[in-house]
Amino acid sequence: MRTIAFYSPKGGVGKTASAVNIAYLASSCGFRTLLWDLDSQGSASFYLSGGKPGEGKKISKLLEGRAPIADFIEEDVYPNLDFIPAHKSFRNLDIRLEEDERSLPLKEMLSPLAEETSLVVLDCPPGQSRLTEQVLKVADLVYVPLVPTWLSLNSWKQFHEFVCDKKLGAKKLRPFFTLVDRRKKLHRELIEQNSKLFDKPSKAMIPYSSAVERMGEEGLPLELLSPRSQPAISYRQLWSETRAELRI
Ligand SMILES: Nc1ncnc2c1ncn2[C@@H]1O[C@H](COP(=O)(O)OP(=O)(O)O)[C@@H](O)[C@H]1O
Ligand SMILES: [Mg+2]
Repeated sequence: MRTIAFYSPKGGVGKTASAVNIAYLASSCGFRTLLWDLDSQGSASFYLSGGKPGEGKKISKLLEGRAPIADFIEEDVYPNLDFIPAHKSFRNLDIRLEEDERSLPLKEMLSPLAEETSLVVLDCPPGQSRLTEQVLKVADLVYVPLVPTWLSLNSWKQFHEFVCDKKLGAKKLRPFFTLVDRRKKLHRELIEQNSKLFDKPSKAMIPYSSAVERMGEEGLPLELLSPRSQPAISYRQLWSETRAELRI
């Protein structure tokens, strides 16, 4: 079982859209995939509602080891794609992980799935907390969507320093540009410097596109909604990079 995460300290940068598209691509390539929506806002459910995911469950029992993770999983929202929907109780997840000694680490919560699941995709909430540290511990790769602006590069720098200071595995980080608008000079300038700005950037860049915005309205991953669109092509590129890196 391999695990990837989509994380950013910022909200609204395309974490969920990316997590859903990559999880869908993985499942459609035959990998038994679990997408876990860790953000209490529950956005991933909107992007998957064509696959009719239901409501999430309160997380306490899972955190305390009183219920197996299987009880939280909706199987086959699409073929090979299992899903753990968010629940409003997830907003306390970082506090519970920080303060409650009975809480299991994320890694232990996921371990019973090791045999039947090939890939876990974690859709993380914004912010930087104990949950972020656990995500970094459990994930093989952490994708960090970045809008090409100086402020988001600054926030990336701070996050990168935090990961280095805490020795959480900076080598796992894969920044990639999202919401790219090539009509903007700054966007063009920054994406050209991709390989200079970061140690290990993803080459895939996701353009700003109304097709991605429509995912929420239509409740469909891009592969089903608009497979020929530019962002769908870019997500396929991101997925083939992921496969190559994970050697799956
Ligand atoms: N490449 C894109 N082009 C246009 N809109 C996008 C793109 N990626 C995300 N969005 C839109 O931006 C908003 C935030 O995206 P989302 O994936 O939910 O971000 P996050 O999970 O980081 O908060 C949503 O309305 C989504 O439809
Ligand atoms: Mg999100």
